[in-house]
Amino acid sequence: MNKNSAAKVSLAERFKEKLPALLVSLVVVGGVLVFIYQSSQQTGSAQVDVKVPALSAIALQGEVAFAENCAKCHGDNAGGGIGGPPLVHKIYNSGHHADGAFWLALQRGVPQHHWRFGNMPPQPQVSEDVAKAIVAYVRELQAANGIAYQPHRMN
Ligand code: HEC
Repeated sequence: MNKNSAAKVSLAERFKEKLPALLVSLVVVGGVLVFIYQSSQQTGSAQVDVKVPALSAIALQGEVAFAENCAKCHGDNAGGGIGGPPLVHKIYNSGHHADGAFWLALQRGVPQHHWRFGNMPPQPQVSEDVAKAIVAYVRELQAANGIAYQPHRMN
């Protein structure tokens, strides 16, 4: 055995010695991740401090319509309220919830799935034009608060 392969063997042995500790840390990290995931599903941590930027003309119309139709659940400036989640939240970036998802939500309502607020009832009083203005408003708020398009992954 030359010097090199002896070094390799002892490395492998050292790895074997460390294996149990490595497995334990993996389990701990996994547990922490599950905990973080579960807390993100709870209502308590849902409210967000939203910075409101200078809005475009269409987003200003959306702001008014949002305050009338959505804020009672989704909170002022879509920052989250007692009846619904913040829409200024990374899960509602346009990669995961495209503009069409907003229109579907308004037409069909939303069964509870991301949060624990219960179902969102349909909002048939909101026309397609008004919905577009609301989406423009929410996207401008998202952009001003660091939420950008992210490709959708299954999580
Ligand atoms: C009565 C309360 C309520 C009202 C009013 C309401 N929402 Fe919601 N909305 C919810 C709840 C609760 C959820 C979250 C459901 C879940 O994922 O668990 C939700 C989810 C959403 C979603 C995500 C849809 C998806 O595919 O996951 C969008 C978009 C949305 N709401 C937009 C709006 C807009 C725009 C308005 C106003 C026109 C509005 N909501 C009014 C309660 C409400």
